[in-house]
Amino acid sequence: MELSAIPYATVLLLVLLPPPCSSNDRLVPGEVLSPGSTIVSDGGGFTLGFFSPSNSTPSKLYLGIWYNDIPQRTVVWVANRETPATNSTSSVPTLLLSNSSNLVLINNDGRVLWAPNTPPAATAVLLNTGNLVIRSTNGTTVWQSFDHPTDTFLPGMKIRVSYKTHTGERTVSWKGPDDPSPGSFSFGIDPTAFLQTFIWNGTLPMSRTPPWTGYLVNGGQLQVNSSIILYLAIVSNEEEFYVTYSLSDGSSRTRYVLTFSGEHRLETWRSSAWAVDGKWPANICSRYGYCGPYGYCDNTEALPTCKCLDGFEPTSLEDWKMASSLRGAGERGRCDAMMVSWPCR
Ligand SMILES: *[C@@H]1O[C@H](CO)[C@@H](O)[C@H](O)[C@H]1NC(C)=O
Ligand SMILES: *[C@@H]1O[C@H](CO)[C@@H](O)[C@H](O)[C@H]1NC(C)=O
Ligand SMILES: *[C@@H]1O[C@H](CO)[C@@H](O)[C@H](O)[C@H]1NC(C)=O
Ligand SMILES: *[C@@H]1O[C@H](CO)[C@@H](O)[C@H](O)[C@H]1NC(C)=O
Ligand SMILES: *[C@@H]1O[C@H](CO)[C@@H](O)[C@H](O)[C@H]1NC(C)=O
Repeated sequence: MELSAIPYATVLLLVLLPPPCSSNDRLVPGEVLSPGSTIVSDGGGFTLGFFSPSNSTPSKLYLGIWYNDIPQRTVVWVANRETPATNSTSSVPTLLLSNSSNLVLINNDGRVLWAPNTPPAATAVLLNTGNLVIRSTNGTTVWQSFDHPTDTFLPGMKIRVSYKTHTGERTVSWKGPDDPSPGSFSFGIDPTAFLQTFIWNGTLPMSRTPPWTGYLVNGGQLQVNSSIILYLAIVSNEEEFYVTYSLSDGSSRTRYVLTFSGEHRLETWRSSAWAVDGKWPANICSRYGYCGPYGYCDNTEALPTCKCLDGFEPTSLEDWKMASSLRGAGERGRCDAMMVSWPCR
């Protein structure tokens, strides 16, 4: 039989059929990953597979990475944030390391949902750090999910900014609890000053955040709780500036996550749920520019309070008195009033 006589679908099927022997933590050329099957990192820490965020109808399918060793599915990375597949019998997405050696997430209607742009790849392997790595035939890493964060800053990941381009990776929040598409909040290094990390709301800086302050105060170590130490490294080389962290041996699962509501959180898994060990903005005082020019936020008091720097005074004494009478009415209302009508002069 001539090759041309073989129906195209048969050829496609042959190409799609996985070779018999394969490691469970990777794809090699010709192998596929379909909904219902998963890849588990060597060590059992993380899973790569398809998931549907609950409550989404019609059910949308995303390719993602989540913890394999905790019962509550916690997604740390999503490939096709903006191009979900539909979970139905007529629409089936497949992750394929094609024979021509490109990793591609393709729908059965031929639509490409996601494809990292890489030189020919020999393997796509899920490491036990939660990093999906594509390696070329000579073993070089040509692409890694750690360079393309979603909303989670994992141990070993680098959040960086380039000196030359002033751009770098940021974590970007989900849009909602069941919507992995990019929300308006992002976390990263300030590309103009390099010396601080920020949460942005769109293009506006919303809050300064640790790990920076933690580093400055504690010389790189953050005692998360009695059994977990977080080691922070801030590295500057010729090209870039980055922040990364690792955890003490035997630490339970710990991660930084930027929630859909714009909170940057440090969370630890405690047997049945995530516990919040830190969150930013911590209070109204950590909001960027909250007390206006010449003002500062004093959070040493029970209620954070806007005050004027030495040599400055509130522009309106009436407003100042009114604000004093609002004491106890809640930090938000008081600070808002200050922000709006009491700039210092
Ligand atoms: C897709 O839908 C089927 C049928 O409703 C369901 O059994 C399956 O769990 C769904 N897949 C995912 C990844 O949620
Ligand atoms: C797939 O790759 C193998 C090995 O490189 C090659 O021999 C074969 O011709 C390729 N098949 C197709 C359909 O491209
Ligand atoms: C390995 O492969 C990559 C991508 O194909 C290429 O850029 C690099 O130069 C190669 N390295 C060596 C040492 O051959
Ligand atoms: C973020 O910005 C949007 C649009 O300007 C605004 O409506 C929203 O309140 C802001 N969210 C926070 C948490 O500041
Ligand atoms: C510290 O974290 C571990 C692991 O999450 C937990 O079991 C332990 O109760 C925590 N200890 C304190 C003092 O919070």
